Amino acid sequence: MKIIIYGSQYGTAKQYATELAKRIKCEIRSYEEIKDIDSYETIIYIGALYAGGVLGMKKTFRNLQNITDKKIIVVTVGLADPNDKGNTETIRSGIKKQLSAEVYDNAVIFHLRGGIDYSRLNFKHKTMMSLLYRKAIKLPEEKKTAEVQAMIETYNKQVDFINFNELDSIIHNI
Ligand SMILES: Cc1cc2nc3c(=O)[nH]c(=O)nc-3n(C[C@H](O)[C@H](O)[C@H](O)COP(=O)(O)O)c2cc1C
Repeated sequence: MKIIIYGSQYGTAKQYATELAKRIKCEIRSYEEIKDIDSYETIIYIGALYAGGVLGMKKTFRNLQNITDKKIIVVTVGLADPNDKGNTETIRSGIKKQLSAEVYDNAVIFHLRGGIDYSRLNFKHKTMMSLLYRKAIKLPEEKKTAEVQAMIETYNKQVDFINFNELDSIIHNI
C-alpha cells in the first residue's frame, strides 16, 4: 500500500502532493492527520522547507518501526533552485539531521520548487524573512549563494515556480 504525506503551511507542497496522488492514484494525508505509517509499504513524504527543515518530516518518521522492505521517498519543496548543486547539498545535509541514519540511507530524495506570497505570510514568517533579507543584502557579492540570491530577488513579492512536469521523475521511481 502506498501513501503520500505532505507538510505544507501555505499550500505549495500540498499542490504537488495532490497532483501526485491524482496521477498515481493513492491515499494522501497531511502529516498532522497521520499517526501510524508502519502499515504502508511505500511512503512518499512531500514537505515544504522552512529554515532548512522539512515541515513535519521528523515527527512523521520518528515512530517508524519497520524500515526493511519499505520504499521511502522524500520530496522537498522550497524556494531555492534545485538545479543548483550547492542548494541541494544544503537541503540534503538538513534532511540528514532530521532523520535516523536508517531512514536517511533508505530514502530516495527529490527536490521541487514551490513559491511564496509575502502578503500571505504569518507574522512569525514575515519577521524571519525580513531578518534574513536584511542580513543577506549586507553580504559581499562572493558570499551570496544561489539560495541567498533567490531570496533577495523574491523578497516581498509573489512568485510561483510550481511545475508539475517535475513530478515525472518521481513517478518513474515509484
Ligand atoms: C520563514 C521561511 C523560511 C524558509 N526557508 C526556506 C529554506 O530554508 N529553503 C528553501 O528553499 N525555501 C525556504 N522557504 C520557502 C518555502 O519553502 C517555499 O515558500 C515553499 O513553497 C513553501 O511551501 P508551502 O506553501 O507548502 O508551505 C522559506 C519560507 C519562509 C516563509
